[in-house]
Amino acid sequence: RTVYVNGAYVPENEAKVSVFDRGFLFGDGIYEVAAVLGSKLIDFPAHMARLHRSADELGMRFTVSDDELLAIHRELVSRNNVDEGMVYLQMTRGAIDRDFLFDTEKLTPTLVLFTQSRPLIDTATAKNGLKIISIPDLRWGRCDIKTVQLLYPSLGKMEAKSRGADDAWMVRDGMVTEGTSNNAFIVTREGSIVTRPLSNSILPGITRAALMTYAAKSGTKIEEREFSIEEARDAAEAFITSASVFVGPVISIDGVELSGGKPGPVTLALRKTYIEESL
Ligand code: PDD
Repeated sequence: RTVYVNGAYVPENEAKVSVFDRGFLFGDGIYEVAAVLGSKLIDFPAHMARLHRSADELGMRFTVSDDELLAIHRELVSRNNVDEGMVYLQMTRGAIDRDFLFDTEKLTPTLVLFTQSRPLIDTATAKNGLKIISIPDLRWGRCDIKTVQLLYPSLGKMEAKSRGADDAWMVRDGMVTEGTSNNAFIVTREGSIVTRPLSNSILPGITRAALMTYAAKSGTKIEEREFSIEEARDAAEAFITSASVFVGPVISIDGVELSGGKPGPVTLALRKTYIEESL
């Protein structure tokens, strides 16, 4: 694979980043993951808008234009022949001798992009659904910023796997915040979809926003409110949204089956709508 590092396209085994990079030493970096379908980027402008917001919230310099970033995305998709998959972008504050204090103006941000080819439409997740466990949400208070501090979500997914499940939903004060790397939705018995309102507690998912627009257009009722893990276990259906899964059916939560232990009809219809609309 060809990857992009600080202005250059290089083979992945020749790419270099400093050991003093603050992304490496402090988790002082932000990222985006954009899906690729039929070699086309999905929702690119929304991902760039969120990247700018993340940089602004952390006071990070932004030294490339969106046009350049689009050109890099397209170049990597083309060089690596990505038909279905994603482009990962990471921007860190830069490299400097290790110190908790920093002077952003003296730092040059590190920019790395690479691609991953993998099926997104015809997947086992879409067909069979996901088993979810709940875990306490022990992350920091700014989950609205897409930082590379992903240790807790990573450990959460490992725990789900060790318990025979596929992923975890995080719970704070009894209420579901979001999935380890996705936004959480439930479907009520009346057929409306429920998802937590945006705040510092969750990432403003690009897929979440797009799905809500498409769902509203197709006449689905949307309730943007908090829901408890008990309400989720008792829901008609549940699903997750993310750029790497789109709409992923949830078939059980903490061992309690939803929609008869298989992907629910509302979820599958929304998945179909999402894919058709975003192409
Ligand atoms: N994760 N919530 C969290 C905590 C996430 O990490 C993600 C994305 C989402 C969904 O956002 P979007 O729809 O914009 O992908 C919600 C990416 C895919 C990842 O870490 O790989």
